Amino acid sequence: MRILLIHGPNLNLLGQREPEIYGKATLAELEAAVSERAQSQGAAISCSQSNHEGELIDWIQEAPRTADAVIFNPGAYCHYSYALRDAIAAIAPLPVVEVHLSDISAREEFRHTSVTAPVCAAVFAGKGQQSYFDALDFLCRD
Ligand code: DQA
Repeated sequence: MRILLIHGPNLNLLGQREPEIYGKATLAELEAAVSERAQSQGAAISCSQSNHEGELIDWIQEAPRTADAVIFNPGAYCHYSYALRDAIAAIAPLPVVEVHLSDISAREEFRHTSVTAPVCAAVFAGKGQQSYFDALDFLCRD
């Protein structure tokens, strides 16, 4: 199983960005932990991050050529990017699993809606790094 791990805007700042919400781990540390866990499950992870919506759309569109599944933390784009939602829908049936470090349903009202979630295979949120591990378990379950 080849999995793309894609992070959206501001997640390059993990470790220094609102650590009380997102934790103290840097993006590199998070990627390393997810990659290590994936290896133990026989999966290979390829990691990327962008602050740019169009670049994220390009990567989603290209995913079927190089991967069997995507784990995607779209950051704030999940709350309003219909373009990213359309990109995820366009690559069906390739599974895209949405993840969030924080519990978006328990934060500000604008975070309660994810427009990308309905076209994702599953959503795991609110458990920090464990959200990513849950996504891996979901994809590697059979
Ligand atoms: C986030 C939640 C989003 O609301 C926020 O804009 C982020 C991070 C999370 O992982 O908890 O950038 O996706």
